Amino acid sequence: MSEPMVVLESRALAKHYPVSTGFLQPKALARALDGVSFELAAGTTLAVVGESGCGKSTLARQLTMIEAPTSGALLLANADVTHADAALKKRLRQQVQMVFQNPFASLNPRKRIVHALEEPLAINTDLSRAARGERARAMLARVGLRPEHDARYPHMFSGGQRQRIAIARALMLQPKIVVLDEPVSALDVSIQAQVLNLLMDLQDETQVAYVFISHNLAVVELIADEVLVMYLGKVVEQARKAALFATPRHPYTRALLASTPRIAAGARRQRQVPSGEPPSPLNPPSGCAFHQRCPFAVARCRIEVPVLEDLGGGQRVACHRVHEIG
Ligand SMILES: Nc1ncnc2c1ncn2[C@@H]1O[C@H](COP(=O)(O)OP(=O)(O)O)[C@@H](O)[C@H]1O
Ligand SMILES: [Mg+2]
Repeated sequence: MSEPMVVLESRALAKHYPVSTGFLQPKALARALDGVSFELAAGTTLAVVGESGCGKSTLARQLTMIEAPTSGALLLANADVTHADAALKKRLRQQVQMVFQNPFASLNPRKRIVHALEEPLAINTDLSRAARGERARAMLARVGLRPEHDARYPHMFSGGQRQRIAIARALMLQPKIVVLDEPVSALDVSIQAQVLNLLMDLQDETQVAYVFISHNLAVVELIADEVLVMYLGKVVEQARKAALFATPRHPYTRALLASTPRIAAGARRQRQVPSGEPPSPLNPPSGCAFHQRCPFAVARCRIEVPVLEDLGGGQRVACHRVHEIG
């Protein structure tokens, strides 16, 4: 069996934001992203899950080169983005596209959708206007919209349709990677499944890789191959989907799962987070960042930061007590 091709690698990526704490006070650092590593293989989906504020969107902004990380490295097709010159950066940027949560905010209301779709081609290729329009209409058809609606404005489409348009736009330059930040969270549950199915079909056709960000494990269970669970800027558990759902090992993953209704089980919606609030990245707890909310915490957890340990089978967990709690 040949190794799957790695299209993106994150090595200890970190982003620390200086934050003002008051007049004449020294700035504090918010450790929004604090050393996240993973590899993404062509044609696969890596889901990133965790509660609001754990650093998911910050990770997305580093992967899509909207921001430059404070430290760590980002490799695309084995090229180091962090040290690339402007020309290489421009070329690499085309390989990573982004879809945002809110399809209403991400499309210009005054632009006909054919122009929204053509724009990446106009900027990055020398295709003629006619050829660009042709490709835009073909892409509309691929995402399940009618090509003859290309002259319409965004407000003439539903939320789900607009998200299809955002996905179409992201695919116009045939990127190797699409980062999707909560792409179905703003949609009705009945529409969510349709958009997820579309994403999976497009992946089968194009071998595009997804970084799929979500706070909702039920959605992740449908679409992910691999899952990263984040807590306060760090990865606390990484596993293939089946292992994560069958044998979650980190207490935080277990709490998230226990409070998530499974789509497969047809269960109803309920609380999706363990009790209590996640701490602030401005003032993270000592030791394990989860210790204040963890039912298994002991003295060591308040003192020593746990590192990711490889448990075999591709599962990695950062918990001092992983072997004791079974
Ligand atoms: N530009 C910024 N300046 C300061 N703090 C930020 C900035 N962006 C994000 N943060 C902080 O970083 C943490 C992670 O935020 P974010 O990545 O948006 O989390 P998520 O997407 O998981 O909800 C939050 O505590 C947030 O307040
Ligand atoms: Mg976010």
